[in-house]
Amino acid sequence: MAVQERHAAAASKAETVQPTSHVGTNGFPAPTKSRSELKGEADQPRLSPLQRRARHFITSFLPNFWWWATVILSVPFAAYAMIYVLAYEPAIREISPAKQDGLPDTGTYSQGIIDHMLLWQAHSLLALVYLVTAPLQFIDRVRLTRVPFHRASGYAFLASGAILAVTGVVMSPHSEMAPGFVVTSAILAPAWLFSAGNALWSIKQKRMQAHREWMIRTAAIGYSVVYVRPVAPLMHLLLGTTNAEASVTAMWICMLLSFAGSQLYIEMRYHGYGGVIPTNRR
Ligand code: HEM
Repeated sequence: MAVQERHAAAASKAETVQPTSHVGTNGFPAPTKSRSELKGEADQPRLSPLQRRARHFITSFLPNFWWWATVILSVPFAAYAMIYVLAYEPAIREISPAKQDGLPDTGTYSQGIIDHMLLWQAHSLLALVYLVTAPLQFIDRVRLTRVPFHRASGYAFLASGAILAVTGVVMSPHSEMAPGFVVTSAILAPAWLFSAGNALWSIKQKRMQAHREWMIRTAAIGYSVVYVRPVAPLMHLLLGTTNAEASVTAMWICMLLSFAGSQLYIEMRYHGYGGVIPTNRR
């Protein structure tokens, strides 16, 4: 058992309230509860079954579903990123939105990418670092028992994300989705940097809860880029717009959902939003 786990077990044992009598009023053994359990119960208002279900859905089911969907989606996205890391030109031209839209080949399919290949390669390589290090930040076992590793992977996550944000802005005018991606990148990059900066600043000041919340926002903002890839063809089918236009629409949708979704989750999970869903802080 890890040292931290042993300490935690000892602490919770010490906290256990020993009942004065071992027989409850109904003749059955009196339940043994920790002080924190009893305090938690006293703090929380009584919930109707509907409220309990809503809380479970919003603070547990939905985030877990989102988490696993994101982690699973990261695998094909990493394979997609490898095409750019390896600068595999035939595939890059093949998946060009212009080609998908059946526009005539004027030798310009993904030409902006080919002309700035090094930039795309660096961005995509760092995307792989981001995809590996982001989930590590949210695994309790890693965070609580492997502190030096958590710190190192946290810096790798923040550094890769910062470079992704800057290179993304530089790349955006050369994208086939310009000028749409120029606008979204000009929002996404500062939003990511602001959020990551706050995450770093809060942990430097040892404000754990603030750090946790900023890290959730930071990861969510970055992941919006990953969601765009499956959402874009969906928008193309639903709206009947070109693939390039659908990508821009998808980018807006994913960005807004990630911004709003992560904030809503934080409010529900940690702040008992509107008093409807009581705080369930850990
Ligand atoms: C944080 C701010 C970010 C900005 C502003 C940004 C911006 C961009 C832009 C403008 C492109 C070119 C899109 C195109 O023409 O197809 C691009 C490509 C790419 N981005 Fe980002 N990005 C950011 C973060 C991320 C993150 C967090 C990941 C992955 C975890 C990522 C992965 C990729 C990959 C793999 C490509 C190359 C494939 C492609 O061009 O579609 N980016 N990014």
